Amino acid sequence: MIKALMGAAGSLLDEEYCKEIEKARRDLRALIFNKNCAPIMLRLAWHDAGTYDAKTKTGGPNGSIRNKEEYMHAANTGLKIAIDLCEEVKAKHPRVTYADLYQLAGVVAVEVTGGPTINFAPGRKDSNESPNEGLLPDAKQGAKHLRDVFYRMGLSDKDIVALSGAHTLGKAHPERSGFDEKPWTKDPFKFDNFYFLELLKEDSDSDSDSDGLLKLPTDKALLDDPNFRTYVELYAKDEEAFLKDYGESHKKLSQLGFTPPLSPNAAYHLRRFVKIIAAVSVILISYTIVSINLAKEINRKC
Ligand code: HEM
Repeated sequence: MIKALMGAAGSLLDEEYCKEIEKARRDLRALIFNKNCAPIMLRLAWHDAGTYDAKTKTGGPNGSIRNKEEYMHAANTGLKIAIDLCEEVKAKHPRVTYADLYQLAGVVAVEVTGGPTINFAPGRKDSNESPNEGLLPDAKQGAKHLRDVFYRMGLSDKDIVALSGAHTLGKAHPERSGFDEKPWTKDPFKFDNFYFLELLKEDSDSDSDSDGLLKLPTDKALLDDPNFRTYVELYAKDEEAFLKDYGESHKKLSQLGFTPPLSPNAAYHLRRFVKIIAAVSVILISYTIVSINLAKEINRKC
């Protein structure tokens, strides 16, 4: 029963594995600091997860982006750099799955650049099967396309806007995406709400593209759609609300199609709980049997 409650990946999540995850987390922090590569690490985590299809339960954060077939997809151009960087950590912690490693890299990238702390649950399994090309969003399209792609993953309008805020980090590279080499904000290594502030400036100042910052058509679509725009305005004026919502949406993204197994600590408490329930049940059943017998005895005597 306990095994059933712990989920399919129960066997993977032993204490040693959790310790390896913590060591990998420290190595990722050092790697991201030394190579100054938070943006591309975050993009790797997103592109591994963002192929999820909630209907067919395929794709998602399963490490399949490491397969040549998948990192050669046009949308993933350049991400081999991040895959190779992660290999340094994988070599030191071979038990950690690629699926966990890439998602952990995304979580660490957000944290070390000043973003929210995202509660990381390990236990993802690796897949050797890569999804078809074309499941990630096309930056040249608009609101309907964004909804088609993110709703397919089971995510909401709020998730779309909050997650787009990840463009507070990094820049475009013409040789990877074809867009001009521009960042979205003036400090592309700081995770804050400036993506939204700059986006709203674009709306009030038609010349703002000339300030050297990037706005993709999908970024601009967040202004044109009334529901998306509500969140853009909220996140521009309330950074705390953005960081909180971003943390929640990022966690959802990193767990698409994945039910985290119980941690060793939670499993211990669950086992104790089940034992207590079993003991209480035995006492109750014994008490009931004794009471019934006593009642029969009294009846017989009367
Ligand atoms: C909403 C739909 C999205 C579209 C259309 C989109 C598109 C793009 C494009 C075209 C680039 C430039 C890539 C390059 O030239 O190197 C980029 C970069 C980036 N994207 Fe997105 N993206 C989207 C959502 C997201 C999400 C959900 C995240 C993370 C949660 C994310 C994180 C990043 C980061 C961090 C970079 C910078 C990478 C670097 O500097 O190397 N994006 N995105």
